[in-house]
Amino acid sequence: MKKIAVLTSGGDAPGMNAAIRAVVRTGISMGAEIYGVRQGYQGLIDDNIYQLGVREVGGIIQQGGTILGSARSEAFKTPAGRELALQHLQQQGIEGLVVIGGNGSQMGAHTLNEMGFPVIGVASTIDNDLAGSEITIGVDTAINIALEAIDRLKVTASSHRRAFLVEVMGRNSGYLALIAGITGGAEAIVIPEVSTSPEALVKTLQESWARGKSNGLIVVAEGAEHDCNTLYGYLKSRGETVGFDIRMTILGHVQRGGIPTASDRLLGTRLGAEAAHQLCAGNRGVLVGWNKSTTTITDYSEVAGVHKPLDMELLKLAEILAQ
Ligand code: F6P
Repeated sequence: MKKIAVLTSGGDAPGMNAAIRAVVRTGISMGAEIYGVRQGYQGLIDDNIYQLGVREVGGIIQQGGTILGSARSEAFKTPAGRELALQHLQQQGIEGLVVIGGNGSQMGAHTLNEMGFPVIGVASTIDNDLAGSEITIGVDTAINIALEAIDRLKVTASSHRRAFLVEVMGRNSGYLALIAGITGGAEAIVIPEVSTSPEALVKTLQESWARGKSNGLIVVAEGAEHDCNTLYGYLKSRGETVGFDIRMTILGHVQRGGIPTASDRLLGTRLGAEAAHQLCAGNRGVLVGWNKSTTTITDYSEVAGVHKPLDMELLKLAEILAQ
């Protein structure tokens, strides 16, 4: 394969740049020309494609975000949009595409591959909800950002004997909330995968107060059945009966904007290099991921639209440890 394009799609994730750099430099070392697509699938539709040399990806491994830009393209979800994208790839003489992104992006990649254009995916999303990879690019950085914020909030919470509701990202997945909750020492973790009644949270905080705790922490995933605002309203409405005075912090996109950790730089590097190898070797229609301490490839039929389950034992453990 002599001409390969690479794009980043969906929510950006710290470590995407390390993956782009690895695709470019590995591909070039294997004799291919590499092209970058700006703004994800939208860039294919707009023919926003340019050649990337080894120097263009210098000094980016330490940067968060993506030098290519990203988008959630509505046009690419239509057959006409996908046809136009395909046309532009073919007009440029591009023979294969690397898609760095999460669930929605890999669904798009799967469709493009089914249309006859060779595509390889790289597992990248802070949500860690992509089947085919135990861990995805950006997760480690996002969790550590959330954790740093939680640690800080617990300091001020302790000074005032307050309880904080902290919302972390994850509209369909509770992974970030689960890990930030267990590593941040939360009293409760509220995730989309499990139904939690607001009254149960009142009881948890009342018991923590009665045990003499100086602070309370409830980590809530963005996509939970009762969102952070609703839970805050409910807890506030219970007034002094809860014990702790309640405050709320929504972390939002701050979790996505960080400088990638060493772990995310390494993961991005490994997965990006493997994707270039796979495409140059003529493979296609697979997701490059990380499983059991090594890079793996998983057929798109086992990845696209499949929701990766959470380790529910961790939720039980978090409850036991919140004494
Ligand atoms: O998929 C990653 C993610 O950060 C989710 O956790 C979050 O729900 C969503 O993206 C936010 O999307 P946007 O950046 O388009 O608002």
